[in-house]
Amino acid sequence: MRIIVIGVTGQLGRIAAETLLEKVPADRLIAVARNVEKAAWLAEKGVEVRHGDYNDLASLLKAFEGGGKLLFVSSSEASDETLRALQHATVTRAAKMSGITHIAYTSIFRAQESRLALSLLHRTTENMIRLSGIPYTFLRNTFYTEVFVNESLRQAVESGALVTPIATAGLNTASRADMAKAAAAVLTSDGHENRIYEITAPKLWTMKELAQILSDVSGKPVVLKPATAAEYAKILVGWGMPEPAAAMFAALYAQLDEGEFAQTSDDLTRLIGETTPLEAVVKRALA
Ligand SMILES: NC(=O)c1ccc[n+]([C@@H]2O[C@H](COP(=O)([O-])OP(=O)(O)OC[C@H]3O[C@@H](n4cnc5c(N)ncnc54)[C@H](OP(=O)(O)O)[C@@H]3O)[C@@H](O)[C@H]2O)c1
Repeated sequence: MRIIVIGVTGQLGRIAAETLLEKVPADRLIAVARNVEKAAWLAEKGVEVRHGDYNDLASLLKAFEGGGKLLFVSSSEASDETLRALQHATVTRAAKMSGITHIAYTSIFRAQESRLALSLLHRTTENMIRLSGIPYTFLRNTFYTEVFVNESLRQAVESGALVTPIATAGLNTASRADMAKAAAAVLTSDGHENRIYEITAPKLWTMKELAQILSDVSGKPVVLKPATAAEYAKILVGWGMPEPAAAMFAALYAQLDEGEFAQTSDDLTRLIGETTPLEAVVKRALA
């Protein structure tokens, strides 16, 4: 059965496609992109690349022609949640009309219970997929470690202070690559229909530990400096982030400090084996 990947030109989709190509022949994959040129590297490897836009049902019906399994990467249109819901409904409808036999959807950690505002879209999408009747796997991805561990940490190394509103809570983040590999595993092995996986690291980490790793990796002392959400929002604005986005991130991080992502699951380890250690992500970010 063919495997269709939508969102294949994004960071997660790309690694998922690379991992799938290690497991199945190229002619079993179909890559769907709104900008097919961005998927040229896949065409060069013998993967069929089709045009498909989450906003355009007709394009998706063509893209999903012949059916198969679908890796449905959630849309990145972050500025408008109602538009994203509409896009997700369009993808789900196209999947239903095209005879897709299994949808693996990139949801969010504890989608149905989470208090985070951004979980609403994923809860809605999970329910839409359930309504479609298509067998599903919900890959309830926690935050990517890279959301916190990225090149912005160079600033923490330079100043010697890791400023964050997430002062104490443990975080269950996992690397984006590990999540992509989990998606590929679900699409290439049996027994995942109508299953829900809480995709987290097997062990929590804290910002204090991150500060220590930054010190170890850089050779310069870095200490944790807790900030209130309001203080952190000001810092983000100082870094050039627009005020509404800064307020949203600061509020989100404050919720994380209340322990919203402080539970772990073994699902990711069961799907891919050993996960990427935090230190490896830090080294990549500072390289
Ligand atoms: N777990 C987390 O921490 C976290 C963080 C951020 C986002 N997310 C969610 O996870 C998804 C995947 O993450 P990512 O890092 O791979 O994001 P990304 O790099 O922004 O990739 C998003 C993908 O969706 C495609 N896309 C967006 N709108 C589309 C449309 N109208 N029609 C067709 N394709 C469209 C993009 O195509 P183009 O290449 O053409 O733009 C891209 O391939 C995101 O979209 C977002 O929903 C999760």
